[in-house]
Amino acid sequence: MCGIVGYIGKEEALPVLLDGLKRLEYRGYDSSGVVVLGEKVNFEKTAGRVSALEKKVSKNNFFGNIGIAHTRWATHGKPTKTNAHPHTGCKKEFFIVHNGIIENYKELKKELEEKGHKFSSQTDSEVFAHLIEEEFKDYHNFEAAFKGAVSKIKGAFGIVAVHKSDLEKILIAKKSSPILIGVGDGEHIIASDIAAILGRTKEIIYLGDNEIAVCEKNNIRISNLKNEAVGKKVHKVDISLEEAEKGHFETFMKKEIFEAPEVIKNAVRGRLIESEGTSKFGGLDDISERLKDIKKIMIVACGTSYYAGLLAKYWLEDFAQIPTTVEIASEFKDRKASIDKSTLLIAISQSGETADTIGALKEVKAKKILTLGIVNVVGSTISRETDAGIYNRAGPEISVASTKAFISQATVLALLTLFFARQKTMSLSEGKELILEIKNLHGKIGQILSNQKNIENIAKKYFKYKNFIYLGKKYNFPIALEGALKLKEISYIHAEGYAGGELKHGPIALVDKDFPVFCIATKGSSYNKMLATIEEVKARGGKVICIATSGDKKISKIADDVVFIPKSSEMLSPILSVIPMQFFAYFVARYLKKDIDKPRNLAKSVTVE
Ligand code: F6R
Repeated sequence: MCGIVGYIGKEEALPVLLDGLKRLEYRGYDSSGVVVLGEKVNFEKTAGRVSALEKKVSKNNFFGNIGIAHTRWATHGKPTKTNAHPHTGCKKEFFIVHNGIIENYKELKKELEEKGHKFSSQTDSEVFAHLIEEEFKDYHNFEAAFKGAVSKIKGAFGIVAVHKSDLEKILIAKKSSPILIGVGDGEHIIASDIAAILGRTKEIIYLGDNEIAVCEKNNIRISNLKNEAVGKKVHKVDISLEEAEKGHFETFMKKEIFEAPEVIKNAVRGRLIESEGTSKFGGLDDISERLKDIKKIMIVACGTSYYAGLLAKYWLEDFAQIPTTVEIASEFKDRKASIDKSTLLIAISQSGETADTIGALKEVKAKKILTLGIVNVVGSTISRETDAGIYNRAGPEISVASTKAFISQATVLALLTLFFARQKTMSLSEGKELILEIKNLHGKIGQILSNQKNIENIAKKYFKYKNFIYLGKKYNFPIALEGALKLKEISYIHAEGYAGGELKHGPIALVDKDFPVFCIATKGSSYNKMLATIEEVKARGGKVICIATSGDKKISKIADDVVFIPKSSEMLSPILSVIPMQFFAYFVARYLKKDIDKPRNLAKSVTVE
């Protein structure tokens, strides 16, 4: 997610800006850039990590006490050097960094092009640099030109701008995209996230919507869009960096569960062709010809990512009729899996650094098989080692137990299923229907999140039990496995996931009043079979917690406790039913006073085989 840092003061700007960018890395990004103004304009951008940018600028003498910098997370245009911020106009006099979306950029760009402006990037943001340049022709004044440009844009923005001939000020505008100003001793640090400021000062001004700030070394003036002065309070914040990153949530895990709606929107953004009822991925462009020869898919992954893969197997076979196998990456290496050049190998990994998955990937690559990575961490090993890639865009996942990454993996895999299915038997109208369902997902998740109290109450009732069975059928079988994994990981309670129909083949022997069974019994083709399974558990005195579809009156009569989730297509229901599972594990662990974000014996990224 995009990050902004700006500096004006008595010190060299470059180290402050780079330090700020590094502190924003946790948000995730794909390219970065910086401009520092001094005797000359020092300007550098790069696709990739801040460390790559740092290497580039260290070769030059980036001197100056004023500058702006940015980490970009691509929305309009690919993650390339040209599309990275800062952006500048034709004469390279004004430099801007922007977070948010300029909704009317196409109209503005057209008008500016008609006036002779030449654009170099595919971004909406560049338009603002040219707008200032154009306004400057009338006003001959940086501040007035900036305000004129702000009055012309629509959308959401946090914008910070500098002018190469005015080294005394940084200009800032905000609407629906956070901007904070850190007040230091003879300096101001501007950022989109408090994490970039806390290292230098704890005195913060929060810019409000439709406010414009003029930041000088020792002075700051804030006005509204009507040019009226606005008085602002300087807040003394007494929080650590970690607390700042957590926001108002008590743990990263809870924060990350609550990010699910945003995660889905980000995974979907720019990847739908609605008129054609299908999806597209920039990352597949280079392999589009090779994809045509693919007859089978093999997925390799570990842990939660493996369960996302298992879900994809059901989808890919049901909707795209592509035979799909899912391999636990650590097992793949030890056996002779049957794989040939008609197979597409998909490696799924949040971190992109899991040694078992990398090991499996290397074996497959040696056989010249086409490989695709579905990865969250930009620039990670798996994202570099695969022939093509799709990023999850979930932002950094800090809690060891994976939650939002699973949501984003499942969303990307649903889009990928749509991509393949539309080339096979899925009709245009079915494709469009699925797109509609995908677009409604984030709102439905919002409803589940607002029901957390109900799940907390159920967790309070059950947190002292020592064993759990999780059951789900079809698309919700992988969710049962994932629910059990979450509970094990963070509460250290023994939990096993099974396919609903397997209960009678063994595990039912365990069921008694002390062995609760967590069932996913949402409406769909497996509903009646799950009801029969629940009856079997009840007949043995077992307690049943159910995830069911809202409006289902039958289930309340047989289950001991029910979490209702909104109605959805059967295919996408697992993306909803996993959320109560995550919450349940979370609240049980909290009642047991466990270290939720850092469970014992576990690491976020398992880099050993
Ligand atoms: C579960 C969990 C692990 C990871 C697994 C794979 O909450 O965090 O099971 O899912 O280690 O990690 P990645 O996805 O980074 O390859």
